[in-house]
Amino acid sequence: MTTLKIAPSILAADYANFASELARIEETGAKYVHIDIMDGQFVPNISFGADVVASMRKHSKLVFDCHLMVINPERYVDAFAQAGADIMTIHTESTLHIHGALQKIKAAGMKAGVVINPGTPVTVLEPLLSLIDQVLIMTVNPGFGGQAFIPECLEKVAAVAKMRDVKGLSFDIEVDGGVDDTTIRACYQAGANVFVAGSYLFKASDLANQVKNLRTALNA
Ligand code: DX5
Ligand code: ZN
Repeated sequence: MTTLKIAPSILAADYANFASELARIEETGAKYVHIDIMDGQFVPNISFGADVVASMRKHSKLVFDCHLMVINPERYVDAFAQAGADIMTIHTESTLHIHGALQKIKAAGMKAGVVINPGTPVTVLEPLLSLIDQVLIMTVNPGFGGQAFIPECLEKVAAVAKMRDVKGLSFDIEVDGGVDDTTIRACYQAGANVFVAGSYLFKASDLANQVKNLRTALNA
């Protein structure tokens, strides 16, 4: 049985206070922090890079779940390994050599994740599944927090869960984008077990209470 994990997204936090924001996340009881890396090319927005992640590492023991929205992310595998990333998740759409890039992530000692955009079919994942620790199904088009959940993506979550069962594998299935107390349960029912949430958690001052609301919605 896979464990359920809430992964607060630091993208929605106060960037001038990463250390205290990480502490706030830790106090909610969440074990993961989701860290969005955006290069202004693969997605229009720019966030931050491996050096910032390395600085965060000094202030937190949370699992660093790094989601790279970057062209040719294989260029940054060593940098993220050295920065202390635990999971490095890369887009099939971002490189011509997704298989080799995932191998490189594993060889660098990190957990490897693969992610697909809403417009990408799950079939591209098939040859990668035995290689990876996590599949991320985007439930918005990547680039910004605070967008509306795309319900059609749930079919892809269910399809990946089925592929996992057929192959007898045990990777995590994560969802990212528009996850809140009204959408999280459907994600879980479709087969997801890691739930990224940004704006829903950080819009309220009491982060721990928001995490609690998500857990309640999960168990409803
Ligand atoms: C979007 C990012 C998400 C983002 C989610 O491109 O990958 O991780 O932080 O934010 P919300 O939860 O606000 O949709
Ligand atoms: Zn993300």
